[in-house]
Amino acid sequence: MTASELPRTVAVIGTGVIGNGWIARALAAGCRVTAFDLDPTAAERTRAFVARAWPALERLGLADNADQHALTFVDSLAAAVEGAELIQENVPERLEIKRATLAELDALAAPEVVIGSSTSGIKPSDLQSACTKAPGRVIVAHPFNPVYLLPLVELVGGEHTSPAVTERAKAQYAAMGMRPLVVRREIEGHVADRLMEALWREALHLVNDGVATTEEVDAAVVYGCGLRWSLMGTFLTFHLAGGDGGMRHMLHQFGPALKLPWTKLEAPELTEELIDKVADGCEHQAAGRSVAELETRRDAFLTELLELTQKYWPEAEGLQSRI
Ligand SMILES: NC(=O)c1ccc[n+]([C@@H]2O[C@H](COP(=O)([O-])OP(=O)(O)OC[C@H]3O[C@@H](n4cnc5c(N)ncnc54)[C@H](O)[C@@H]3O)[C@@H](O)[C@H]2O)c1
Repeated sequence: MTASELPRTVAVIGTGVIGNGWIARALAAGCRVTAFDLDPTAAERTRAFVARAWPALERLGLADNADQHALTFVDSLAAAVEGAELIQENVPERLEIKRATLAELDALAAPEVVIGSSTSGIKPSDLQSACTKAPGRVIVAHPFNPVYLLPLVELVGGEHTSPAVTERAKAQYAAMGMRPLVVRREIEGHVADRLMEALWREALHLVNDGVATTEEVDAAVVYGCGLRWSLMGTFLTFHLAGGDGGMRHMLHQFGPALKLPWTKLEAPELTEELIDKVADGCEHQAAGRSVAELETRRDAFLTELLELTQKYWPEAEGLQSRI
């Protein structure tokens, strides 16, 4: 961790699933956090969330000065950005809400302060065009749930972003224990959500067409491809699928399958029937366990998985399990 790049204070705007994840990560890294949300019950929810996340963060290693109580909820955007060295926006994924919030944040914050948006799919230029003061420092900083454990953050600059802003953001997120992936060109969905969306659409088709239940689709991932992906990703995994001949042999063997109608990719119509099938399937899989119980189990698993990844891939840059 480069202590000098660690933002002393992070402003977190919107404290739902993702905002809370950023708060837990920032506190564990030793930052102070000022938070703002429209919901008056948000502070209570966030404090309970951080308390639940803390054991997993302790296991991975807290910064010496980490304090889960270094969190202040404030009642305006102006108070939230006051003194913040990094601002993270996590309001709902609706273009007009994002643009209005970012325009205000940009007007309020000192021009050198990076404003990262957690948006899953919106292009940074479509956010920057709402801003007038220093639009180039508004970038996409897209994390993964749970933000306090998963290291990846996709950084995407827009048409006004200079390399210096991207470098500064990269250093700040890395100082918070993350693995920044600078995306070379802005596209809707960035890199990782493009991949996840493709799998998600196929999964919905398989359930919609009655080929598999939600539980069976999940089993195919959990006991098969998912296990490999957590260490090597799509490309290196398939390199090994080619035997000694590696990827070249694999492409010669399976290349023709690329022309077969194995994928649909266009999403199926989201009918009430499909919603019921998918939601009922998930309830059945949860077997009476609450989301909070499942989160605790997931965190324990991910913590050990991160340690395993570090053990078997120690040279992978930025995959250190310590916060
Ligand atoms: N959920 C995920 O897995 C995930 C993963 C990566 C990125 N994201 C992105 O993170 C962002 C937030 O998603 P989420 O899942 O946390 O949503 P969420 O619905 O859980 O939380 C949104 C929060 O924003 C608050 N809010 C609404 N309008 C606001 C405003 N104008 N000012 C301040 N607060 C406001 C709400 O009260 C709520 O607490 C979205 O852009 C989403 O695309 C989500």
